[in-house]
Amino acid sequence: MKQTILVTGASSGFGLLVATKLHESGYKVIGTSRNPEKYLGKLPFKMVALDLDSEHSINTFSERLFQEIPKLDILINNAGFLVSGIAEEIPIELGKQQFETNFWGTIKVTNAILPHFRKEKAGKIITVSSIVGLVAFPNAAYYAASKHALEGYFKALRYELNEFNISVAMIEPSAFKTSIMDNSSSPINKITDYNALRGKIEKFTIELIKSAEDPIIVANKVLNVVQAAKPKFRNVVGKGTNVLINLQHFAYGILERNVLNKLNKTKE
Ligand SMILES: NC(=O)c1ccc[n+]([C@@H]2O[C@H](COP(=O)([O-])OP(=O)(O)OC[C@H]3O[C@@H](n4cnc5c(N)ncnc54)[C@H](OP(=O)(O)O)[C@@H]3O)[C@@H](O)[C@H]2O)c1
Repeated sequence: MKQTILVTGASSGFGLLVATKLHESGYKVIGTSRNPEKYLGKLPFKMVALDLDSEHSINTFSERLFQEIPKLDILINNAGFLVSGIAEEIPIELGKQQFETNFWGTIKVTNAILPHFRKEKAGKIITVSSIVGLVAFPNAAYYAASKHALEGYFKALRYELNEFNISVAMIEPSAFKTSIMDNSSSPINKITDYNALRGKIEKFTIELIKSAEDPIIVANKVLNVVQAAKPKFRNVVGKGTNVLINLQHFAYGILERNVLNKLNKTKE
């Protein structure tokens, strides 16, 4: 029987490519959008309503989902957005909004699906994090924090779900050409002290957008994880990401040695 896969945020970018690829590969796909009516009859898979910022929407969505399908095999948490700007300039309310969507929305959807997976003693949860869930760059502090939070949460959850035969995997892309920048939110009020840094960041961002890769690479990576019997937890994808991970392990090595050295000194 065809496996059924739910892809959140399937109207654009990675989600649209992932959902289309999975449909073409023979899976039954259900995609989500805040405005599914816009895509009626335009996509090869079914779109349903889901707004990560609304508890009511998440509850209605999960109730209806299991009325329509007898079984869900895989959840792909992909929906999310970017708050960009100098950290101090970002109003706390906008920072909270970043967490409401990227972190809490993703957790609430996962919690809505988990009872079904536990009952079935089977399931796979794939979450689109980001390379900035592992490292961080300026101008995206809240975004990086929301993705770091997801990494920490799912790393812990993975151990708890082991006994239910539910696997957990993260996808950590670097920069890819989607609509993420167009759909991003930024602070209106600027602090002039940051103007010099802002100039450098703007240049860096222009370069980053120019060098961004084809998002089909990410869709292929997700397909690999979908098809893996035992997926790895961490799945970085994109130019230079393996180097970053190696460097991070190296950095942790230094950190650990520093802590051990300090402990040894305390002992003396
Ligand atoms: N592009 C990159 O370089 C990059 C790199 C690393 C990670 N990512 C991550 O990849 C994921 C997809 O982003 P993308 O680059 O494909 O961006 P995108 O083209 O802007 O797509 C974002 C998707 O998320 C949905 N969405 C946004 N806010 C939502 C909300 N409050 N409730 C429900 N759905 C919401 C949108 O659906 P509707 O507007 O139809 O509701 C849309 O389908 C995100 O988690 C992003 O953080 C992107």
